[in-house]
Amino acid sequence: MSKFDSNYFITMKDIVREGNPILHQATHKVAVPLSSEDKETLICMRNFLKNSQDPTIAKKHKLRAGVGLSANQIGLNKRMFAAYLTDENDRKHEYMLVNPKIISHSVSMIYLPPSEGCLSVDREIQGFVPRYERIKVKGINLDGEEIMLKLSGYSSIVIQHEIDHLNGIMFYDRINKENPFKLPENSRSLY
Ligand code: NI
Repeated sequence: MSKFDSNYFITMKDIVREGNPILHQATHKVAVPLSSEDKETLICMRNFLKNSQDPTIAKKHKLRAGVGLSANQIGLNKRMFAAYLTDENDRKHEYMLVNPKIISHSVSMIYLPPSEGCLSVDREIQGFVPRYERIKVKGINLDGEEIMLKLSGYSSIVIQHEIDHLNGIMFYDRINKENPFKLPENSRSLY
């Protein structure tokens, strides 16, 4: 039984940091329909994101604010993530997704200035991370139903960051090595 049941309170000590091999390898697919253990873990992960964005709770428990968390970031080799964010149009997004896959994407790219951040990375990193402006993602929700998300802008960036985690890719792996501020054609800043 995993300790991450729906009542468990994730803190920064549960978050795996860069250098740990589990963050740098592709995760295993999750069995569907979801076990109650996997469901509870996803709820626990979503609760952490919510708590981390609440100034009072975050201060009390020394949580860094996060908008996405993948299972390997809490040491579980499972292809699933939670995301909880408010986008540039003030729309709220909440996802708990299993076996996600990008099925199509725009040619146009965007990036988050000045760079992306990650709960598993404690140092400051400079450079732009090009992402697809729009994506369609297929995955399984908590109820075991297949869903498709159409995302653009900030939510698209966050979900690409999380799916990268599940593929063992860190955001800085996508920064241009010679010039960290060099971008592909068709890129624009989100803000
Ligand atoms: Ni991250």
